[in-house]
Amino acid sequence: MTDIIDIIKARRSIRKYLDKPISREIVDKLVEAAKWAPSGMNEQPWGFIVVQDKLLIKELSDRSIPYINKMIEENPKFIRYKKRMKAKDFSIFYHAPCVVIVLGRIETFFYQNDCAMAAQNLMLAAASMGIGSCWVGMMATLDQDKWFREKFQVPDNYRVVAPITLGYFENKDIPIIERRPPEILKYF
Ligand SMILES: Cc1cc2nc3c(=O)[nH]c(=O)nc-3n(C[C@H](O)[C@H](O)[C@H](O)COP(=O)(O)O)c2cc1C
Repeated sequence: MTDIIDIIKARRSIRKYLDKPISREIVDKLVEAAKWAPSGMNEQPWGFIVVQDKLLIKELSDRSIPYINKMIEENPKFIRYKKRMKAKDFSIFYHAPCVVIVLGRIETFFYQNDCAMAAQNLMLAAASMGIGSCWVGMMATLDQDKWFREKFQVPDNYRVVAPITLGYFENKDIPIIERRPPEILKYF
């Protein structure tokens, strides 16, 4: 698949992965694609943490869950996640073999937008290589956690913006999801 429009349309959030690692070479290519994203004043305020260690991915998930539960309690809108989280052996990363956390430098003006652009580049590049991804916003609840910041040596001026799972998948596990027609408020 080479047409960018086809890739954009074919990318879906994948929530079931094959137990197959992603090579360092491919991860590097995806991060390279991410860095070509536009950014306000070309600040490029992103940093990447790549986690392929299964036990660490599990610990990231386990340690996020209490924060997510608190968030659900405070925001009834998230209640539907509660059911998902009750699944046996639940992982917020859906057992993906690789998680790339995009973090932004907070002293820059648009770091959240910039990092989201980088994350989208990364997910689209992954889709072009037949690799599934899912932005797991829930993990950002761990941003200020002492264990997380110390374990991953996160500099004080970086905040988690986009935790992205990556992994190979089976076609049958591609979710069917629609989009509403775009709301064009007005043509001038
Ligand atoms: C900012 C953001 C946060 C998200 N957080 C989660 C999450 O925590 N868990 C999850 O399973 N999906 C998460 N998603 C994926 C969305 O649910 C998904 O993009 C949406 O349902 C549309 O589906 P599609 O990506 O397959 O087109 C997130 C997506 C975005 C952009």
